[in-house]
Amino acid sequence: MTAPESSVSSEAAEAAAFVSPVDKPIGVAVLGMGNVGSEVVRILLDHATDLTARVGAPLVLRGVAVRDIGKDRGIDPDLLTTDVRALVARDDVDLVVEVLGGIEPARELILAALNAGKSVVTANKALLAEYTGELADAAESHRADLYFEAAVAGAIPVVRPLMQSLAGDRVNRVIGIVNGTTNFILSAMDETGADYADTLAEAGRLGYAEADPTADVEGFDAAAKAAILASLAFHTRVTSADVHREGISSITAADIATARAFDCTVKLLALCERVSDDDGNDRISVRVYPSLVPLSHPLASVSGAFNAVVVEAEAAGRLMFYGQGAGGAPTASAVMGDLVMAARNKFYGGRGPGESTYAKLPVAPMGDTPTRYHVNMQVADRAGVLSAVAAEFAKNDVSISTVRQEGASKHARLVVVTHRAKDSALAATVDALKELDIVTAVTSVLRLEGTSE
Ligand code: NDP
Ligand code: HSE
Repeated sequence: MTAPESSVSSEAAEAAAFVSPVDKPIGVAVLGMGNVGSEVVRILLDHATDLTARVGAPLVLRGVAVRDIGKDRGIDPDLLTTDVRALVARDDVDLVVEVLGGIEPARELILAALNAGKSVVTANKALLAEYTGELADAAESHRADLYFEAAVAGAIPVVRPLMQSLAGDRVNRVIGIVNGTTNFILSAMDETGADYADTLAEAGRLGYAEADPTADVEGFDAAAKAAILASLAFHTRVTSADVHREGISSITAADIATARAFDCTVKLLALCERVSDDDGNDRISVRVYPSLVPLSHPLASVSGAFNAVVVEAEAAGRLMFYGQGAGGAPTASAVMGDLVMAARNKFYGGRGPGESTYAKLPVAPMGDTPTRYHVNMQVADRAGVLSAVAAEFAKNDVSISTVRQEGASKHARLVVVTHRAKDSALAATVDALKELDIVTAVTSVLRLEGTSE
């Protein structure tokens, strides 16, 4: 059956309108021209024709805010300004890209833009993990978009899939490697057998680790991303303060070697899970820590500075997102995707879906969270040791999965792997083990994730 002539001609007219956009430019301000901002500016300028066709109107760069205006940035110097507030307030700026980093003045500038009805694209996970509520409310009140795909896992599309593609499904778990610096360090330790300090120094030399690597190695960066992921996955507002956080600075070459002996590797994981309380009510657990991951798990093969996020949803099953989680160009790709979306919304009128926090699920304390432990001990090698150790696990209602003993001298090495139990019960067991005369030292305690038990 052929379509009626009038319908064909109206489709043709729409197509013509799409490829020949009306000459109503959409003004863009880019705040920051560092690693990410310089790539955003480059793409805006180099791909202007394609971007115009994709949006329906020209995207015009009105200005770029920087601190040091004297530095040669390879663009028309007239575009540069240090007066970031005045740039945001300009009448011909419709969209603001915030890639300054930090809390202030980024927060204040984003609010100023949103309150003026200007849509905002940001990569600022540290800010979002604290202030999404305030920013999202301003976006909602002024019918503007607040997009932040780049804030989690750089180039990898994971924010939009959680917010839109899975909006009709029930997400039960998100588990990811969301920090490239720590993944680079742990992968290098695994590959070379080198110690943490040497590998961190190498990561610094290669430009992966920053001069002050605290935010990465102590898990703050991953915790901010976990808060954003959990908010989206569970329709609940989660901030960094809700995230249990442990970093990788205490991981030793011996931990990595033990992991290998158990066919595992060590990864800094961000875990966002739906868990039940004792009455069967839904709660969520959001946590970041280094964990053993079986080599058979898809996250185990994510090496170097790459990121990956696995989402488990009731109907969709397991989905995996993988790619470059950092770097100027990959992060700019995500920023540009958001910018095109926000510009299309401006062009056609309206705004995209904002955050959804209707579920308001309580956050479970870490102690109540079911995890598995891998406990490494030095023990006296004599009769009764194994049963004394096992008794401490039993007292705390922690079921043992495997026990491995190595060495038959005065001191043996004992590795106990548990089944899932409440984290508080596991921690109490370790405390009790440390008090036993027959346990010379508890040399390491790592969690084990990514198993079905
Ligand atoms: P940079 O430090 O490289 O760049 C920051 C830019 O902002 C610089 O151009 C700086 O100016 C400018 N700037 C900072 N403060 C002000 C201010 N008060 N007024 C005017 N200009 C200012 O940061 P990145 O590009 O690496 O990161 C930007 C954002 O993107 C951060 O939120 C970060 O967390 C996020 N992000 C970064 C990723 C990455 O791989 N780098 C990955 C994912 C997210 P000047 O050049 O003059 O110093
Ligand atoms: N420092 C971060 C990382 C940058 O190493 O992953 C990307 O957010």
